[in-house]
Amino acid sequence: MRALDPEDAHTLAVRALKLAPLPRPAADDPRLQVRAFGLNFPNPVGIAAGFDKNAEVPDALLRLGVGFVEIGTVTPRPQSGNPRPRLFRLDADEGVINRLGFNSQGGSMVLQRLAARTARGGIVGVNVGANRDSQDRSSDYVHLIETFAPVASYFTINISSPNTPGLRDLQQAAALDDLLARVVAARERVALRAGPTPVLVKIAPDLTLAELDDVVAVARRRAVNGMIVGNTTISRPANLRQAEAAKQAGGLSGKPLFALATRMLAETYVRVEEAFPLIGCGGIDSGASALAKMRAGATLLQLYSGLVFRGLAIVPAIKRELLAAVQANRPGSLADLVGADAAAVTAESWPT
Ligand SMILES: Cc1cc2nc3c(=O)[nH]c(=O)nc-3n(C[C@H](O)[C@H](O)[C@H](O)COP(=O)(O)O)c2cc1C
Repeated sequence: MRALDPEDAHTLAVRALKLAPLPRPAADDPRLQVRAFGLNFPNPVGIAAGFDKNAEVPDALLRLGVGFVEIGTVTPRPQSGNPRPRLFRLDADEGVINRLGFNSQGGSMVLQRLAARTARGGIVGVNVGANRDSQDRSSDYVHLIETFAPVASYFTINISSPNTPGLRDLQQAAALDDLLARVVAARERVALRAGPTPVLVKIAPDLTLAELDDVVAVARRRAVNGMIVGNTTISRPANLRQAEAAKQAGGLSGKPLFALATRMLAETYVRVEEAFPLIGCGGIDSGASALAKMRAGATLLQLYSGLVFRGLAIVPAIKRELLAAVQANRPGSLADLVGADAAAVTAESWPT
């Protein structure tokens, strides 16, 4: 797969998952269970948004043994995203740069696929975004919440993709307050017919700490159900080996993102004061990095790039390491690990 153009390789991976007769995984050890946002996760390891943007393979992904899958980002109307090439692998750094720009088959197609699988169960979150040419971006999020509520386990409000011009401005306090007021009102409306559907906000690791203060304050005031920390970074760490390739515009993910994303997670954790749980995402590529994410403040985990470089075996490897950590901590539970190192992480020098 690595010999192929990265986007062709991804298309092929999705096709293979569609065809592969994957067996149902063995039940998880009960000590890996997590209860968050009113949902019962069989284990804390999830697939991040962007892998299955159009809900083509959520059930195949669940059969890999993950505790949940997030599909999307979905936009209301179909759009093709940026011109190719728009996906780049930094093999020597185990990083990925993408500037896909919300290529999406659009709400109706994705909704049909999810509606056809609801009886199969499993936690499938829906990551929602705005069309690039939208005149009223808040309405796009509200519309998707209203239409997808019956088939979504939870929603993620993606305001942190770097590849839709202006989208990240929705993280500014006044804009965010306005957006979340409308989103939370939609959440309450749809709950009357579809039952409660938690709403999470996914943020960029590139916020300043002053901006993070505002984002957390608004998220708490508007009573969102959780946050995902976070999306790809537009920064480029100083020590990248493929410095030339890293000049491609777009969001960087994978191993080079780990330090920044984990620092921002810990910074978020200390500000949230357990008002809601956090999903830690960015650079998880092993059991050890997954454990470090939980200790920095993550109740749940998501990964994408780690799958590209480490393959599917990364999922059982992470679960084994988390279980070993729980056992070593007897009579502790996974929950006891969450945030154990958050204060210490925030005291380290800033990752460069
Ligand atoms: C190719 C690619 C496409 C992505 N598309 C989305 C997306 O549509 N929506 C989103 O919220 N995040 C998207 N992401 C970001 C991931 O969900 C995740 O936040 C980020 O990659 C960091 O995790 P990782 O280091 O484990 O990959 C994408 C990432 C990659 C590599």
